[in-house]
Amino acid sequence: MDDRKADRLIRYGGAFFDEPIVRAGGSFVETESGRRILDFTAGQICATLGHNHPRVNAAIRRALDDVMHLNSWMLSPPVLDLADTLLATVPPPLDRAMFLSTGGESVEVAVRMAKLRTGRFEVASLTRSWHGLTGGVAALTLAAGRRGYGPVLPGGFALPAPYAYRCPVRHCDGECDCTCLEAGFELFDQASVGSPAAVVAEPVLSAGGVIVPPPGYFLRLAELCEERDMLLVLDECQTGLGRLGTMYGFELYRVVPDFLVLSKTLGGGIPIGAVITTAAIEADCHERGFVHVTSHVSDPLPAAAARAVIQVVEDEDLPGRARRRGERLLGHLRTLQERHEAVGEVRGVGLMCGLELVEDRDSRRPAEELGLALSAECERRGLSVNLVRGGTGGAANCMRMAPPLTVSDDEIDLAADILDASLTALQPAAAR
Ligand SMILES: Cc1ncc(COP(=O)(O)O)c(C=O)c1O
Repeated sequence: MDDRKADRLIRYGGAFFDEPIVRAGGSFVETESGRRILDFTAGQICATLGHNHPRVNAAIRRALDDVMHLNSWMLSPPVLDLADTLLATVPPPLDRAMFLSTGGESVEVAVRMAKLRTGRFEVASLTRSWHGLTGGVAALTLAAGRRGYGPVLPGGFALPAPYAYRCPVRHCDGECDCTCLEAGFELFDQASVGSPAAVVAEPVLSAGGVIVPPPGYFLRLAELCEERDMLLVLDECQTGLGRLGTMYGFELYRVVPDFLVLSKTLGGGIPIGAVITTAAIEADCHERGFVHVTSHVSDPLPAAAARAVIQVVEDEDLPGRARRRGERLLGHLRTLQERHEAVGEVRGVGLMCGLELVEDRDSRRPAEELGLALSAECERRGLSVNLVRGGTGGAANCMRMAPPLTVSDDEIDLAADILDASLTALQPAAAR
């Protein structure tokens, strides 16, 4: 990156890309010097339909002509239409929606409503989770960003993530049997001051290393919540709208949450978040005086973009495509695991995949430096992937891949070739 430009910016963790990006389309972004980079992070997991999808762009242009922003209590056709379109994609009893701007803000609203509804304040989240970094949800984000900012909101509890490759309760290996969940609630019950309100969880822990809970996990979690009269908030900011091969991650686990939170994938690149809940919870919160007003609540422009995203996801059966393309990607990653000793584990569902890098498979020591070098090498060869936390103690050694749901077979094959070549270049002797 041209230092003169970058040094005017506050650095917010991680290194900036070398070159400014001047254009984007489909699964690629293009740098100032004309390099095309295959974007296997879908922007920040938001470019669900790839970059600059014509139907999203058309919806935005229409909103620019009609109305893009309004007083928070003025409603518009894009917002009312989005509510109809979105609520038609979720099962009963979910049938009320609110539209905000970001993921963190939306989780925040779900948790505020859960507290108001229950009259209690204790909220548990999973270790390795990411729910945003705004004041309230910073207490629930356990994957990163905690040290150095003083106290978080009281009432936050950690449940050990179902990370069977490095089982947090040293019980399972490779396949989680939910002992961590039982142990987590035992800890919760002992530490609780008697005010259990909610559990917040991602269907797949993405920023925490693409950790996929086992099939029975969320059914048991829902039972444990019900026993304590806690509400279940599923944070589907990344997994919602088809990424896991189903419209929503909760479908894979056969549970229906009390609150469903969407963001990221919903806007296709435009900031919008949504909280969806039941009519009973909405009515009760309203009775209790629920207030949460923001500058961009119910704004028409992001709503128009989101509705276009949902329509394309449905018209083109993108969940089905994510399932098929995800199998292709996972197949390639498993081949890489066979060829490269440094690939300790391959994880994923649909088009959310990750490979965890280790120094060797016996010790499973997280290969953090290799992760950094591999990201840089992939980038040099034209592939952008995210390095996220797998490992112990927060080591960033998991390469996460979450391309647009519109990604083609050829693009998946190209990404796998680049990964293979990059691993071989960095670890020639270790390649099998
Ligand atoms: C699962 C999940 N929830 C919430 C958030 C927070 O979203 P935002 O960054 O828009 O506040 C993120 C961001 O990465 C996320 O991955």
